[in-house]
Amino acid sequence: MARRAFAACATLLLSLEAVADSFPFLTLETAPFTPPAIQVTKSGQTDPGYIFVGPRGNQDQGTAALIYDEDGNLVYQGPTEVTANFKVQKLFNEDVITFWAGNMMDLGFGYGTVHILDNTYREIYTVTLQDHFVSPDGVARDSYIDLHESHVTDRNTLLVTAYNVTQQDLTPVGGDPDEYMLNGMFYEIDIATNEIVYSWNALDHLADIPLEKSRQGKAKDFGTMEKPWDAYHINSVELLNDGYIISLRHYWSGFYVHNNGTVMWQLSGEQGKGDFTIDEAAAFSWQHDIRVYNATEEGMVLSLFNNANTPTAEVAPTTGLSFAVDLVNRSVKTLRTLNDPDDVIHSVSQGSYHLMSEESNHVVMGYGSISKVKEFDGDNNEVMTAQFGDDNAVASYRGYKCEWKATPFWQPALVVQRTSDSSAKIYMSWNGATEYDNWAIYSASAPDSTDNAFVTSISRSGFETAIEVGSLDTPYVQVVARKDSTPLGTSPIVNF
Ligand SMILES: *[C@@H]1O[C@H](CO)[C@@H](O)[C@H](O)[C@H]1NC(C)=O
Ligand SMILES: *[C@@H]1O[C@H](CO)[C@@H](O)[C@H](O)[C@H]1NC(C)=O
Ligand SMILES: *[C@@H]1O[C@H](CO)[C@@H](O)[C@H](O)[C@H]1NC(C)=O
Ligand SMILES: *[C@@H]1O[C@H](CO)[C@@H](O)[C@H](O)[C@H]1NC(C)=O
Repeated sequence: MARRAFAACATLLLSLEAVADSFPFLTLETAPFTPPAIQVTKSGQTDPGYIFVGPRGNQDQGTAALIYDEDGNLVYQGPTEVTANFKVQKLFNEDVITFWAGNMMDLGFGYGTVHILDNTYREIYTVTLQDHFVSPDGVARDSYIDLHESHVTDRNTLLVTAYNVTQQDLTPVGGDPDEYMLNGMFYEIDIATNEIVYSWNALDHLADIPLEKSRQGKAKDFGTMEKPWDAYHINSVELLNDGYIISLRHYWSGFYVHNNGTVMWQLSGEQGKGDFTIDEAAAFSWQHDIRVYNATEEGMVLSLFNNANTPTAEVAPTTGLSFAVDLVNRSVKTLRTLNDPDDVIHSVSQGSYHLMSEESNHVVMGYGSISKVKEFDGDNNEVMTAQFGDDNAVASYRGYKCEWKATPFWQPALVVQRTSDSSAKIYMSWNGATEYDNWAIYSASAPDSTDNAFVTSISRSGFETAIEVGSLDTPYVQVVARKDSTPLGTSPIVNF
């Protein structure tokens, strides 16, 4: 854990505006955290789970991997650093938390590392990518994993994206023969060994993905090594039996890449383009987070976050979409359109669509540049909205709700403030712990005593529990986090 203490990068990126941030933050006695005071409103039955976000804004405050419960209580705060894709995934059949942490470039991608923690928050795997990469600033990095994807597959590999500065003839798009652009790449990395098992890049497939088809037209002020043109903007990768489905935001399309590298088809969000006939409701643009379910030779279900907005595009509602994709007839039929009519959102960048369970069909969407997470039920009704910052000032690249059980390897924290000769105000917390429900308070005879006297107990109250206790005969206190009467964690003995 110690080596993961990067300073936060507080620059404004991925279309975040320099909006004055007036969002309230929480302060705590037992931890140096100032997480955003998340506001959760529920309008229906939600699925169980905690809210997982990685806010990133115009200040260090609250820039960390954060877990909250549905009542808005903080559950976990990680180190102050820019993160992405903070969520629970299955690895070797165990629940783990995974997230990217690193530095963002002004051009809307990043360089970082994917961290994998077990249910005690010990870092069990650290996935990095070393290859010959060229960066816009010419600075070498420890790891070149981009922020956009950290997807664990059922074969215990990690799918990640990467961006590489490459010189390219841009005359077909009105540029010069020797300009620079960003190649869109993805890698599959074996998590246990950190070995690359597969890699692919879009520039090797110009015939199937022509630069002229990019919806991110080549502007005059892009094309240098420092400001390369971002033709593709790869932002998700999903595994199939014999290949991968990738999302290229700047093509308004998903592409199926066969294991042998060949681009087999393009599913475009624009009617009349790509290899599929799409129904009217299936139109999408500037999308994120293409996920695949129930893939067979004949078809699959595909879902995505349809931004439908950029700062320059026409304003249209941002929606979650899910489609039945017919591979035989090459047609797409819309199954679900998720939108909260009472709170129509226009998200210009980032975002996610996460099917929480195939039983309830609840979906959680993170709205990217709009600092909200919404849960929808199986009938496509909004049932929960959580706001964790000012829109367009604070973003979370993706946002999730996940079930999670954790008992940290570190001790509970205790702060004791004397209020009289024999009484004190006691503050207790245990960052990341999900399983305890009450605290037992003990009076200790000495800083190292083990036969401490039980004073009282109190139910857990959110992240930090406080109680005023009298009749303390000694100046030493210790607290124990418990589930019913079973001790789960013991604080140090504190002298007050
Ligand atoms: C990145 O691009 C450079 C050319 O600019 C190339 O030499 C290098 O091999 C590329 N890296 C990867 C990992 O493809
Ligand atoms: C890759 O496999 C597909 C499916 O069998 C095939 O159509 C395509 O031609 C192959 N590409 C190469 C380069 O072998
Ligand atoms: C996948 O198929 C199962 C069985 O037919 C179905 O219950 C489930 O809803 C499907 N998943 C999606 C995302 O459509
Ligand atoms: C595909 O098209 C054929 C011929 O039009 C039709 O008979 C068949 O039902 C279609 N399949 C699906 C899954 O819609």
